[in-house]
Amino acid sequence: MFFDTHAHLDDEAFDIDRDELISSFADVGVTRVLNASSDMPSSYKTAELCKKYDFIYGAVGFHPEAADRMSEGDISKISELTKKKNIVAIGEIGLDYYWDSVPREVQQKAFREHCALAMELNLPIVVHDREAHRDCFDILNEFPGIRAVYHCFSGSAEYARELVKKGFYFSFGGAITFKNARHAPEVIKAVPREKIMLETDCPYMAPVPYRGKRNHPGYIPQIAAKISELWSVSPEEVGRITTKNALSFFGIKE
Ligand code: NI
Repeated sequence: MFFDTHAHLDDEAFDIDRDELISSFADVGVTRVLNASSDMPSSYKTAELCKKYDFIYGAVGFHPEAADRMSEGDISKISELTKKKNIVAIGEIGLDYYWDSVPREVQQKAFREHCALAMELNLPIVVHDREAHRDCFDILNEFPGIRAVYHCFSGSAEYARELVKKGFYFSFGGAITFKNARHAPEVIKAVPREKIMLETDCPYMAPVPYRGKRNHPGYIPQIAAKISELWSVSPEEVGRITTKNALSFFGIKE
């Protein structure tokens, strides 16, 4: 039993076969999916998917690359959406200094607003941190007690240990199966198992042997297989542990 804790099923890449594809995940043991939003329309689509499918959960909010499209009043719309069925988190939010397509101050302001909302509503957050480790960490420190999962974590094992001290979680996806995966295997071995979750970040980052193709939650077993190698346990055990972690982090009853 697997839980894909970071998918973008609202993406147009799934417009041609979304429902058919969604109905196939259970065949490979993927019984829960969390859809992460990237802007306002995407947050509404996430809420629709959650309404339609009992096993789909949602995070709502603005991705840092969409932070410049956030307008006055959007944060209250996001707040309203959290009352909808199966919406369990705020995300994906954070900072992206790799593309740097949106001014850093704009990203930081949006990130802070979402963190403040999460604290107010007592919801966990799904964090996107690309080449912005320091600023991301500093902003999260402004919100003591915030519950965060770093998705597609790319930092070092040393940095991961710092984040563990804050009680944060990590989710890993297709990139860990790539030959050139650097930090991730080390991090997966260095942090406590009860802090790790699985994700696809689909439609991007398909795991080997599907690298370059459209990714989807049905490829979670490939990611679990890689972690099972690193942990020296069965893929089923990886599924059991990571699902338990996800249910606990997102506050979902079994
Ligand atoms: Ni994502």
